[in-house]
Amino acid sequence: MRPPEYQFIRDLVYRHSRIDLGSEKMHLVTARLNKRLRATGIPSVKQYCDFLQGPRAKEEIPHLIDVISTNHTYFFREPGHFTALDKIILPDLVARRSKEHWSQLRVWSAACSSGEEPYSIAIAMSDFFSQANLRWNWSIEATDISNRIIAQAARGIFTEDKVSRLEAGVLRRNFQKGFGPQAGQHRIKAHLRKQVNFQRFNLLEDTLPRDVMFQVIFCRNVMIYFDPATQQELVDRLLTRLVPGGYLLVGHAESLSNVTHQLRMIQPATYQSPL
Ligand SMILES: C[S@@+](CC[C@H](N)C(=O)[O-])C[C@H]1O[C@@H](n2cnc3c(N)ncnc32)[C@H](O)[C@@H]1O
Repeated sequence: MRPPEYQFIRDLVYRHSRIDLGSEKMHLVTARLNKRLRATGIPSVKQYCDFLQGPRAKEEIPHLIDVISTNHTYFFREPGHFTALDKIILPDLVARRSKEHWSQLRVWSAACSSGEEPYSIAIAMSDFFSQANLRWNWSIEATDISNRIIAQAARGIFTEDKVSRLEAGVLRRNFQKGFGPQAGQHRIKAHLRKQVNFQRFNLLEDTLPRDVMFQVIFCRNVMIYFDPATQQELVDRLLTRLVPGGYLLVGHAESLSNVTHQLRMIQPATYQSPL
């Protein structure tokens, strides 16, 4: 790939996803674009750039964003967040629910990738409510910009390597083990799948219906791909969807230090909005 082609791809990706590839990722991007060259049968990056300016660009751009975005994730990533959910966040929300007239508990897994994050939250919440012997109507909205990854996440099927780090009891209670042609696959049980609603959603472009608010938002390991102005815009957008006294969890490698906000840090990468 030549520098002008890289610049063209970089600008296009930024316009459509706000992912800032920076100037150093030419080799990585070339490797990822090769997947699209193979899939479309287009012989060179130059011709692929032309294709992206032609009549079928609208169809191709989501596939481009798919191969460019990093979907790395795993179950119970950043365990401190799950401890906080169990020991601080859920007990606090339960204590406030009647005063706040919350009939529902809604959690948003924004940029959920292949589903490990929202399903980990579902497992943690299901365990919390059964151990506390409490009932509350709860659900998780799981969104990502990538159509492909959302479809994969909604199936809730994971290969052996994806679940290998889970404790045996967690695996047994929450996953169905495949047999015969499904051997080596593990599917999240239906009672957890039905708590999670998946949809494609661009965090910087799309809007949720006006009345949709969340008590907890997980927005982890996506802000690092954005420039400071976009990070500010993203946090501002997320905060419009957080109830007063709601919780925002960001990745531990991310920092809100470049962002202006009124949140209180309750532990690293875990914030609460003013009550
Ligand atoms: C590294 S994964 C993080 C997954 C999970 N939150 C975690 O922490 O393990 C980042 C995800 O952000 C998604 N993403 C990137 N830009 C986005 C945007 N503008 N709107 C929504 N999702 C986006 C990517 O498709 C990818 O699945």
